[in-house]
Amino acid sequence: MHIQVERHQARRVALNHQLQSGLLILPTARVQCRNYDNDFPFRYDSRFYYLTGFYEPEAVLVMQLGADPKSTLFCQPKNELREIWEGFLFGPEAAREVFGVNEAFAIDQLDSKLSEWMMGTERVYFPVGFDAEWDARIFKLAAQATSRGRGGVDTPIEFIDARAVIDEMRLLKDESEIGLMREAGRISGEAHIRAMQTAKPGQFEYEVEAELLYHFMKQGSRSPAYGSIVASGHNATCLHYHENNRRMQAGDLLLIDAGCELHGYASDITRTFPVSGKFSGPQKDIYELVLAAMNAGFEKVRPGVPRMAYHDAAVRTLTQGLADLKLLSGTVDGLIEQEAYKQFYMHGTGHWLGLDVHDAGRYKLNGESRSLQAGMVLTVEPGLYFRPLLPDSPASYVEVPEHFMHIGVRIEDDLLVTPDGYENLTALTPKTVADIEATMAR
Ligand code: GLY
Ligand code: MN
Ligand code: MN
Repeated sequence: MHIQVERHQARRVALNHQLQSGLLILPTARVQCRNYDNDFPFRYDSRFYYLTGFYEPEAVLVMQLGADPKSTLFCQPKNELREIWEGFLFGPEAAREVFGVNEAFAIDQLDSKLSEWMMGTERVYFPVGFDAEWDARIFKLAAQATSRGRGGVDTPIEFIDARAVIDEMRLLKDESEIGLMREAGRISGEAHIRAMQTAKPGQFEYEVEAELLYHFMKQGSRSPAYGSIVASGHNATCLHYHENNRRMQAGDLLLIDAGCELHGYASDITRTFPVSGKFSGPQKDIYELVLAAMNAGFEKVRPGVPRMAYHDAAVRTLTQGLADLKLLSGTVDGLIEQEAYKQFYMHGTGHWLGLDVHDAGRYKLNGESRSLQAGMVLTVEPGLYFRPLLPDSPASYVEVPEHFMHIGVRIEDDLLVTPDGYENLTALTPKTVADIEATMAR
């Protein structure tokens, strides 16, 4: 495991500076049942992990905030008998040492310690409304403290959600996070190259998925960052296709949206390539338009530029290109104004990336698109999707010409905003038509 005690400690110090005195309570995620007595692989809560580095289930961080803050970790107790069945547990003693908290206790002591610490505390920070069971538990403890408190002793009267404060911290990545995201980007990029070099007509989509997962794991990633999309032919026009069970045919495009998670950090890459190694004329027309939109977006990624600018640039390029291909008619400004492009481009051009694939942090401040800052990581992911009209499609939508029907193209990279522009964390995997065809020929 990748434990960087000082980073997590520094984040807790910074958080304490931004909050008033009081008690902060932050549980990790719950274990989720998959079926009968079988659980889904556990994934810790990203905010909890950001502040602790602790990755076992059934754990809670409690911070006594103020001039002399104290962090306490509650976790599963050591239990050698249970560990024979379920594997290693740190237990409070080792957890305190390894994760650098002031104190650690067994999780079954949580309520009694919270009851004690709520006496003398007016303010409780916790993710209010995130989990009904935690809400009920914390409000009950607070009510008990109040009824025991009698006048003269402060007890909780303010319940504040600190998630947004933590999320704003998470938006700006530090060097250790950037290092991990570079690695995640490299591994995912290599996996996409492997997919390009192994995919063949006649294979099932899940055979390509297997190649991706194989490479992720061989490189130390224990999970993809989200469900991999391996979408061939018309499936590529479904934005979150996940069945991955179609047999690919010669002449298909294959859209792969897949990235690994490395020590908690996501990568998120999309590439679209011809299963048989050569783009057809119409596929190439659409592909090159999407790539041009991506490059137009890249040019708007630098500090001080509003976040929406890269979306707007991609939309303008796509709209111009759709008009040039006679798919839309009218002036580019008019078509953008009417959002005519939405028939073929119905999603945004990107999102924050970090511990979560759609990462934490506000997109707007005071109603306005916020400016980019060095240390932010975002995706740029334009696309075009050509589907038959639906019975209730808007009257302004146009019939898709036969040669473009069922084409779906998306291209996605992960960019770190740097002081003078950006660093592309996923530049490894080829993107131009020539480079893709050459990679596939090898
Ligand atoms: N893979 C999810 C996304 O691109 O947003
Ligand atoms: Mn993606
Ligand atoms: Mn994405």
